[in-house]
Amino acid sequence: MSERLEDIAAKMVADGRGLLAADESTGTIGKRFDTIGLKSTETSRRDYREMLFRSEEAMKNCISGVILYEETLFQKAADGTSFVDIIKAAGSIPGIKVDTGAKPMANYPGETVTEGLDGLAERLAKYYEAGARFAKWRGVIAISSSLPTWGSMKANAHALARYAALCQQAGIVPIVEPECLMDGKPGDHNIDRCAEVTEWTLRTVFEELADARVSLEGMILKPNMVIDGKNARKASVAEVAERTVQVLKRTVPSAVAGIAFLSGGQTTEEATAHLSAMNAAFELPWKLTFSYGRALQDTALKAWGGKPENVAAGQRAFNHRAEMNRLAAKGTWKRELEQAA
Ligand code: 13P
Repeated sequence: MSERLEDIAAKMVADGRGLLAADESTGTIGKRFDTIGLKSTETSRRDYREMLFRSEEAMKNCISGVILYEETLFQKAADGTSFVDIIKAAGSIPGIKVDTGAKPMANYPGETVTEGLDGLAERLAKYYEAGARFAKWRGVIAISSSLPTWGSMKANAHALARYAALCQQAGIVPIVEPECLMDGKPGDHNIDRCAEVTEWTLRTVFEELADARVSLEGMILKPNMVIDGKNARKASVAEVAERTVQVLKRTVPSAVAGIAFLSGGQTTEEATAHLSAMNAAFELPWKLTFSYGRALQDTALKAWGGKPENVAAGQRAFNHRAEMNRLAAKGTWKRELEQAA
């Protein structure tokens, strides 16, 4: 019997667990490896991801699902066990990034539209077969005084909705990710502008999802937090939490299975503090958790440094970060816990 979409979605956000975004494309993981002076090869990518997926405490207690890049979905650990089997053995769900990237949008300077719809139904069938039970598509919304435009907003929201409908038809839970960029150019916008753009984006995305007949109970929303641009940071943790919750309450139907934030360029500790503040201070109709890439991996990547003798240190760093975010998803994280580690 095939699993129901709403059961998979509920499991993805249950009990303080959240998602590990490990779906960096070959280009992006190369940039991450550059920061530790490591060459990106199929083997180094495998070794790094094997270290993460074999971090037992994090995977069993904190990570409900892992977003994989296509290479990793079909890849095997050094001992020949498939990554899909390793993830499932930890009680976690394998997922897959299915968009093929944000590409410059014709006639819209400074904006992108995300590609990947052509042939998507066939690819989804193949990914389902390989064990993926959820997918991710990231639409990118630029923020400046003059951007986003309505044209780019509409194109990205429409693509997200078409992707989500195709996923559900294939028995796969769509993570719908419209990211209003905190770290784009010029990145000097303030939190008010981020709130205005995020509200407009989410309203547009949910209209498109309704028009595409997407089941809200069988999807996860992956939004940005409402926050100042990276070159204008000043809002407090409490303000980010309050403004984010306000925008979500205005735009996200309570039928949505869950919300899992991206970290978007926040430091590891900020991403944790903001999530915890939202869960601690507000009554919410949905589970709020994490779907972090950089904010879950940065410390582990540094501690590992590409050296086999540092695998245990990398896993300790990942276990710690995952545990801090598990507490944040329950609203019980405290800054003192960071120092204690
Ligand atoms: P960050 O948390 O590093 O923003 O990555 C999350 C993600 O999956 C972006 O698509």
